Amino acid sequence: GLEIKTLLKDTGKVTFDPGFANTANTTSAITFIDGDEGILRYRGYSIEELTEKSTFTEVAYLLMYGELPTAEQLTAFEDRLRVHTILKEDMRRFFDAFPYDAHPMPMISAAINAMSTFYQDSLSVDDDEAIDLSSIRMLAKMPALAALAHRKVTGMPVVYPDNKLGLVENFLRLNFGFPAEEYELDPLMVKAMDQLLILHADHEQNCSTSTVRLVGSSQANIYQSIAAGVNALSGPLHGGANSAVLDMLDDLLESGQTPEQFMERVKNKEKGVRLMGFGHRVYKNYDPRAAIIKKTAHEILDKMGKADARLDLARRLEEIALADDYFVERKLYPNVDFYTGLIYKAMGFPTNMFTVLFAVGRLPGWIAQWREMINDPATKIGRPRQIYTGASLRSYVPIAER
Ligand code: ACO
Repeated sequence: GLEIKTLLKDTGKVTFDPGFANTANTTSAITFIDGDEGILRYRGYSIEELTEKSTFTEVAYLLMYGELPTAEQLTAFEDRLRVHTILKEDMRRFFDAFPYDAHPMPMISAAINAMSTFYQDSLSVDDDEAIDLSSIRMLAKMPALAALAHRKVTGMPVVYPDNKLGLVENFLRLNFGFPAEEYELDPLMVKAMDQLLILHADHEQNCSTSTVRLVGSSQANIYQSIAAGVNALSGPLHGGANSAVLDMLDDLLESGQTPEQFMERVKNKEKGVRLMGFGHRVYKNYDPRAAIIKKTAHEILDKMGKADARLDLARRLEEIALADDYFVERKLYPNVDFYTGLIYKAMGFPTNMFTVLFAVGRLPGWIAQWREMINDPATKIGRPRQIYTGASLRSYVPIAER
């Protein structure tokens, strides 16, 4: 049988909760989710209202500092970010060493980790000023880091930030400005990018955010904690799902299978066949982010004149799923990743950059959660228990006798 070792000072029971599906590791005042009702709020503001009325920079401020900024506070915040957009040249050269055909996610996490070596004046976790400096640095430099990875994988020349522009505008120019001086910002792209980044900005204790908190609970610095979060986000069951959705749609269009045939394979649980972009640990209703982004996907593809067979296919798969008992009984609905890839593709991003875009969006959340964790007197080093299932005591056998 299973043996649970309990210490005298323990309460006598260890909870066995794989995937922490029902275990809270912290209190938090940042994000509220009601998965049954399909509700998402940052600091009390609904995601619907924020995507309609706010900007990514303002939302980043809200998440990090708890309140919407006044006009003065927002200007001061933007000015502070501007000072830190440029990377040290040695830091930029770091990217030269990566193979051009590598995935950009490990490039980003390695580069964020390396920030611990380039910005040593902001590593203290006890000093409020250092904490704030490292938060601002992370947020300000992330667009350049992500765009460097993009330039690397597409073999395009590097563009330096233009500090006359705001964070989102700069990000688009860093990615697509070629030649950079002549790049004209498309207001539709700016609005869509702003909206996409806001939608991803936080999602309480998901896998990557919990990773940031867990690593940070040992008092590792913010760069190390967030680099770990980027790695957690890489997996196809988490942030990697947005590119997996596009691969799935492309494969399906190429294969000549009908959507109905594909869905039968999903329901039969054929190895490796899942309806990517569907299902969620917390949402047992329509993911509110998917509802917003589905509408935007349509508008963007329409306005850009990019009729996309993939969008039609995605909508057909959703239609089938919402009317099928397999999905209804399991409460599987589209999640945020189901429609985002179509927009990223229309904007001109290669598929392997999609998860990096998720990371750029999630960054304010990681920063806010790390700050909340490090300032919370109740924080303890994260250290789950286990239920041991291995051998009981046995004697060492000399190698000649094995
Ligand atoms: N396609 C087909 N069946 C599914 C899917 C899916 N996308 N998702 C879940 N199921 C089925 C499971 O096979 C399981 O069936 P069973 O009860 O017969 O065994 C049941 O639904 C419950 O699924 P679990 O895997 O136990 O749910 P869990 O909460 O552990 O997983 C997850 C959630 C990882 C998101 C899962 O739904 C999945 O793999 N989805 C596809 C990947 C994806 O889109 N990930 C993005 C998540 S959102 C984000 O990171 C922003």
